[in-house]
Amino acid sequence: MSGPSIKLSSGYDIPLIGLGTWQSKPEEVVNAVHSALEAGYRHIDCAWGYGNEKDVGEGIRKSGVPRSEIFITSKLWSTYHRRVEECLDQSLTNLGVDYLDLYLIHWPVPLNQNGNHPMIPTLPDGTRDVDKEWKLSDTWKQLEALVAKGKIRSIGVSNFSEYNLEKILPTATIVPAVNQLELHVFNPQHKLLAYLKSKNIIPQAYSPLGSTGSPLLKDEDIVSISEKHSLSAADVLLGYLLAKQIVILPKSVTPARIVANFKGAQEALSKLTPEDVAKLDGLAAAGKQKRFITPPWPVYLGFEDWPQPYPKPE
Ligand SMILES: NC(=O)c1ccc[n+]([C@@H]2O[C@H](COP(=O)([O-])OP(=O)(O)OC[C@H]3O[C@@H](n4cnc5c(N)ncnc54)[C@H](OP(=O)(O)O)[C@@H]3O)[C@@H](O)[C@H]2O)c1
Repeated sequence: MSGPSIKLSSGYDIPLIGLGTWQSKPEEVVNAVHSALEAGYRHIDCAWGYGNEKDVGEGIRKSGVPRSEIFITSKLWSTYHRRVEECLDQSLTNLGVDYLDLYLIHWPVPLNQNGNHPMIPTLPDGTRDVDKEWKLSDTWKQLEALVAKGKIRSIGVSNFSEYNLEKILPTATIVPAVNQLELHVFNPQHKLLAYLKSKNIIPQAYSPLGSTGSPLLKDEDIVSISEKHSLSAADVLLGYLLAKQIVILPKSVTPARIVANFKGAQEALSKLTPEDVAKLDGLAAAGKQKRFITPPWPVYLGFEDWPQPYPKPE
């Protein structure tokens, strides 16, 4: 009932299907979380930056599912790289829990809290105010200390390329358990996935349906594979990622879709053939490469396909 899971390097199991909560309005997410837990989900993906953790917590309590049966992730927002425990404590309070199963660095870009915006402080020229003096390896040390303190079970990163992972790995005493990335048929990041495998870092796919409005559902190759197997396009997109042992985090606030994604992803996993997976693996290289989430960070992020001009620092 609770779906498939995979073991993290920390020794804990993570359910392969989690509910996404970005852009879920507070009044909708209570019900979404409740519906998901009722449908069998045991994994909820949250973040301080989503501004709805209080409501996610309410949905969890409303469901009656014991806290110990649910895998809860949250993320450190960029203005808190120097004050990790402060951000974590806010998430714990908002969610109404006393530990997290997984805590991620949301973006590899520390920002200066200069007071002009609570989430995205900017410079007079309008660009994001990056804290250039701070080292990512020092953020990571704080996450490690919070594991030792018992506030977090597993730690990981999000939106980290190999370039940024190499900034924390040499001094890490705990290897990141996961890297949460934009991963889907149009942005498969094959090279980065091979690198993560070599380091025993589990990939998590965000925006598996193409994010807001699920644009990937209309792709003709996806539709054709879905018709062949009597699946929905969403099932194919999700089942493809499961077939590659990637954790999926589909977001929905619509109860019928929440239920359908959970069941359909698993059905697609059993129906998709190695040929289907190979075809889907090749769509980006055949001309469909596309990212949907590209915030204007004014720094080099190290992703081959990132559509922005910042050069690699010397
Ligand atoms: N680490 C990061 O930087 C980062 C970035 C982005 C996302 N994330 C995480 O990943 C999660 C998922 O990504 P996402 O929210 O960008 O996008 P997504 O899950 O790819 O797509 C969400 C969209 O698809 C719709 N949808 C869901 N199931 C559907 C179905 N079966 N049929 C038709 N439409 C469907 C949703 O509509 P309704 O809700 O209206 O039903 C919503 O518009 C996020 O919520 C968040 O938890 C993390």
